[in-house]
Amino acid sequence: MKFFIDTANLAHIKEAQDLGILDGVTTNPSLMAKEGIKGTDNILQHYKTICEIVPNGDISAEVLSTDFASMVEEGKKLASLHKNIVVKIPMIKDGIKAIKWFTDNGIKTNCTLVFSAGQAILAAKAGATYVSPFIGRIDDSGWDGTQLIGQIASIYATQGFETEILAASIRNANHIIQCAELGADVCTCPLDAILALLKHPLTDIGLAKFLEDAKKM
Ligand code: G3P
Repeated sequence: MKFFIDTANLAHIKEAQDLGILDGVTTNPSLMAKEGIKGTDNILQHYKTICEIVPNGDISAEVLSTDFASMVEEGKKLASLHKNIVVKIPMIKDGIKAIKWFTDNGIKTNCTLVFSAGQAILAAKAGATYVSPFIGRIDDSGWDGTQLIGQIASIYATQGFETEILAASIRNANHIIQCAELGADVCTCPLDAILALLKHPLTDIGLAKFLEDAKKM
């Protein structure tokens, strides 16, 4: 399973990259706004900087328009920034048309805002490189987000779809473990969820004891 970091915060991206386990970055307009990135030039420059920090990973850059022609124009501009840019497109009717257009033109896509197996089937039919089910937001609405990951994995395996399942809206380490069990190809996570995977109290207790005993060696 690949690890992406879900943030536009450059310090967090650098920290995850330094760990040596980072395969890519996802952003969205909310995450960009949280970092105070405003204006087209600054947004494009921010994507370029992320690509420089993670030179070998896929970097999702989201279109802001919602009609087919504008999404294509915007996506072409984003894709021209760097070879690793993946154009992130919302799960709407024109979005599906745009994903098909990008697929036919050799540009990678990430279909975002996916909350059902039906939406995931459409994204795969259009040839999306990645499909992003938002599991935390499904949990927030009183359903089981990780169950959707298993359902999509089963459908894609049965049907031979090549679209990769990119589990998004990850809130904690347990989400990551469940997604790994259920067959997600990628988890995109905030830094704290990735770092939480490190933690176990018995590791801390065991290390303290080893270090204490090492003084007697
Ligand atoms: O990648 C999508 C993700 O950023 C949404 O996460 O926490 O806003 O539901 P969240």
